[in-house]
Amino acid sequence: MSVRGKTVVVGVSGGIAAYKICETVRLLAQAGATVQVILTRAAEEFVTPLTLQTLSGHPVARHTFDLTEESEIGHIRLADTADALLVAPATANVVAKLAAGIADDLLTTVVLATRAPVLVAPAMNVHMWENVTVQANVARLRETGRLLIEPDSGALACGYEGAGRLPEPDVLVEEVAVAVSEKSLVGRHVLVTAGPTWEALDPVRHLANRSSGKMGFAVAKVARRRGARVTLVTGPTALEDPRGIECVHVTSAREMEKAALQHAAAADCVVMAAAVGDYRPVEIARHKIKRGRGDLDLRLTANPDILARISALPGQRLLVGFAAETRDLVANARRKLQAKGVQLMVANDVTAPDAGFDVDTNVVTLIDRTGRVERLDKMSKEDVAGAILDRVRDLRAPCAALRAESRRLRPRQ
Ligand code: PMT
Repeated sequence: MSVRGKTVVVGVSGGIAAYKICETVRLLAQAGATVQVILTRAAEEFVTPLTLQTLSGHPVARHTFDLTEESEIGHIRLADTADALLVAPATANVVAKLAAGIADDLLTTVVLATRAPVLVAPAMNVHMWENVTVQANVARLRETGRLLIEPDSGALACGYEGAGRLPEPDVLVEEVAVAVSEKSLVGRHVLVTAGPTWEALDPVRHLANRSSGKMGFAVAKVARRRGARVTLVTGPTALEDPRGIECVHVTSAREMEKAALQHAAAADCVVMAAAVGDYRPVEIARHKIKRGRGDLDLRLTANPDILARISALPGQRLLVGFAAETRDLVANARRKLQAKGVQLMVANDVTAPDAGFDVDTNVVTLIDRTGRVERLDKMSKEDVAGAILDRVRDLRAPCAALRAESRRLRPRQ
């Protein structure tokens, strides 16, 4: 997770959703962030400093003048060391103070003093959230460059239904990761495919494979963190659509082909992590196939090669393929690199322990057209995604330089 090694200041104000911050702090600390918590007086009515100190592993800051015993000025130190500041939950009162630039307690003072990105996650009753003054304050926060984490809709603690729920801790952590990540893909459109395809045999059965979608979803998330506009074309998986990513759901290889070709036309980079079925039944039975006395022969026909079709599209885009192999990893992946016309192939030995299908880690070898072969150690799928997107950045740089040079040399009309 890309909050590793970052310092995140978490400012908690007094709303019932403060209970979700305990888990958020735990997840941030578990992911390798240094977490400094600030509690407002009202927040202490909902969560205790002891809980948050235990979960973060650091003393909790509560009042501006608690910190003056230190040789430095405590609130400035907190503001300066932060890589990001998350205010969650932000009550209507705190939203108003932040919009007006009021600094009458430690949390609001640190927000004014920091140069780090400030993420504000409002949570309140739906009528308060819809109130014109609150909405004007929220608009002011946006104008002043605060990163707003929109509240979710649903059942609220006050008994109402509607917008105002604090998003779940994993969503808050992901938004912090977006705020602290490098931004090498700003202005780029990245298309990612993920998951398996299902090829129907009859109304109740299909041919599928073991892809969970985890690898492709990780690439999509990390590309978004790096600033890209991301479209994720995914086969059937149990994963939730990631926030901030356009998700297109498909079932069969031919549906994936249609969606991928449509979105690839405008993409700067395509990463095909999906495990596309190479074959489909020649016929789909209209009714459930009945068990007979003997064996059943199935006739299969080849599905289109989506990557090869994208590589034949007009225009320039960087193509990354995955090669799922059970033997002769590098030789087979090299063959696919050539045959499918991609710039980078991620060779994946799906028989290796903790690698391939449906696990959170992977072991891959990156192979490019220069012949460079780089075997990566076992790492999380997010870290694999980071390594792939590092290579995308490096492979794009010479292309961009070449295009700039040819524009420079082109005779003026
Ligand atoms: O989803 P997970 O559980 O996290 O598992 C991850 C993964 C093992 C699925 C992933 O890491 C992976 O290896 N994906 C590629 C699987 C695959 O289909 O490999 P392949 O060697 O059969 O295909 C080579 C490339 O061509 C792939 O980029 C594939 O998306 C693409 N392809 C394949 C067939 C087809 N008809 N059209 C294609 O575009």
